[in-house]
Amino acid sequence: MIDINKAIESLNWQKEPRGLYEPIEYTLASGGKRLRPTLALTAAEVIINGGLINGDAIEQTLPAALALEVFHNFTLLHDDLMDRADLRRGQETVHVKWNDNTAILSGDQMLIEAYKLLSDVPADKLPKVLKWFNEMATGICEGQQLDVDFEHMNQVSIDDYMRMIELKTSVLLAYAMKIGGYIAGANEAQQEALYQYGLHIGLAFQIQDDILDVYGDPKTFGKAIGGDICCNKKTILLLTAMETTDAESKAELLQWMMASDCNEQKIAAVTEIYNRLGVREACEAVMEQHTSLALAQLDRLPQNDATERLRLLAEKLVTRKS
Ligand code: IPE
Ligand code: IPE
Ligand code: MG
Ligand code: MG
Ligand code: MG
Repeated sequence: MIDINKAIESLNWQKEPRGLYEPIEYTLASGGKRLRPTLALTAAEVIINGGLINGDAIEQTLPAALALEVFHNFTLLHDDLMDRADLRRGQETVHVKWNDNTAILSGDQMLIEAYKLLSDVPADKLPKVLKWFNEMATGICEGQQLDVDFEHMNQVSIDDYMRMIELKTSVLLAYAMKIGGYIAGANEAQQEALYQYGLHIGLAFQIQDDILDVYGDPKTFGKAIGGDICCNKKTILLLTAMETTDAESKAELLQWMMASDCNEQKIAAVTEIYNRLGVREACEAVMEQHTSLALAQLDRLPQNDATERLRLLAEKLVTRKS
């Protein structure tokens, strides 16, 4: 079993200029769940343990797994700048600890480092992996743009939201699965099952992220609570609340959304409206539907230890606190 944290620690960053590389080291040393490389490596194990190919394939998956994690961390630097978020993984975000330009430029360099890692994918597999990695990267940019656009729009449907989170969050998890499986020799039907598993846990994962942004404990979540409420992010909680037939609550919510500055009072008031309308429970039900859809994909794959770990992971993600 590959230790993903050790593999990340042993990445060799250039040393100079410190202003460029120190924030990269800081970010990658700050932990996180390492979900994307875990998915890529576990997907590979599902296929290898399924008896299709030799054991070297798991080692061959490592460069792509690392590229996915470095790429993910790059997106966080830019996302925190765009969201004006001060805290991540319990530490100051890069744009706060350094400045905006640092978050942009160190982020850019992390994107380049991700592609450097990707170039170590076995040559016969590289063309497809590169194509998929690019599709994933474009998807995230499109999803992030929609996320920003929606902040200033009043008519956003839950379908619009689902499409937006599929792009900003799920495609990365889906392609992590597909790329990991493909390098290990998955056939097309298996690649599709792996992709769909990643896609649906990704949707559930972002819904849980939205829930934790309101109901999480900052100590375990590692991010500030209420940031999404502050900037009128069209999260599934807000959109579900907006669908209420309780005219008074809806009017109150719209009033708060017009408040130009954000403070504890707005966060508390909007949370109280969510509580009153039972929004959390409604969102949890959608999250569970996607977990079930993810779990159903696993039946289409070889059944072994790794498949079982994916089953447990899907179930654990919906009760996660961090
Ligand atoms: C944060 O991802 C961005 C989202 C898609 C919600 P994670 O919650 O996986 O972040 P880390 O890597 O574990 O910190
Ligand atoms: C995550 O969206 C999407 C990306 C980082 C690409 P969020 O903005 O909800 O993520 P967090 O909550 O800051 O981790
Ligand atoms: Mg954010
Ligand atoms: Mg964001
Ligand atoms: Mg969030």
